[in-house]
Amino acid sequence: MRALLTNKWTKVALFCICLMPMAALVWRGFHHGLGANPVEYIQLSTGEWTLRFLVFTLCITPFRKLLNLPDLIRFRRMLGLFAFTYVCLHFLTYLILDQSLDLGAMWKDVAKRPFITVGFLGFLLLIPLALTSSAGWIRRLGGKRWQRLHRAIYFAAVAGVIHYYWKVKSDVRMPLVYGALVAILLLWRLGDCYLKRRAASGAKLSPQHAPANAP
Ligand code: HEM
Repeated sequence: MRALLTNKWTKVALFCICLMPMAALVWRGFHHGLGANPVEYIQLSTGEWTLRFLVFTLCITPFRKLLNLPDLIRFRRMLGLFAFTYVCLHFLTYLILDQSLDLGAMWKDVAKRPFITVGFLGFLLLIPLALTSSAGWIRRLGGKRWQRLHRAIYFAAVAGVIHYYWKVKSDVRMPLVYGALVAILLLWRLGDCYLKRRAASGAKLSPQHAPANAP
């Protein structure tokens, strides 16, 4: 498994797989496969793929630890950047095809419809994460600050789930499935942080770390 995860071609293969939903949209576009309302089709497809890629990205750390596969980390940045790519396509479809590039109308819509407001908030949260995803930015910000900033991905995923839930109105099964996945991943993360802190404070109190003149 380790050989597969560290092989450079695995990354190339995953990159190609991540491009498939986009390629499928282009293919459908050229073959009249986008249904009666192509704008809606593109909007729904790119929205769902954004949420899926956010969940895939959030799965990397728990899977690394639970399955003892540290090399999975090689794919986290790529998956996160694909989430950002799909949300950009989602937003641009809305801005160009739905709102005809009318920024005034877009702002009015963002302010008026709560489901758009929350989606927009999720999008805004992802921008600094995409901009600071490189190794250079980890160095510049320092590991701790970078990690703190990148926890915003959980808020973006929650915003995405609420956006989806408010959009569908009647059949809320899929938003609830994504909501449950994000909740499990968030709870796992909180539990992991709690255990790490407890272990750290336990280590401080242990005899090896006690001052030499302690009773
Ligand atoms: C983290 C960010 C976002 C996520 C995860 C997300 C996800 C989704 C999902 C899953 C849907 C599909 C709902 C369905 O199947 O019925 C959707 C629909 C939609 N989203 Fe987003 N979205 C995000 C950001 C945005 C932004 C920034 C905008 C625009 C400002 C936006 C505008 C829309 C619109 C207009 C629809 C409905 C499309 C239609 O019914 O034709 N979303 N979004």
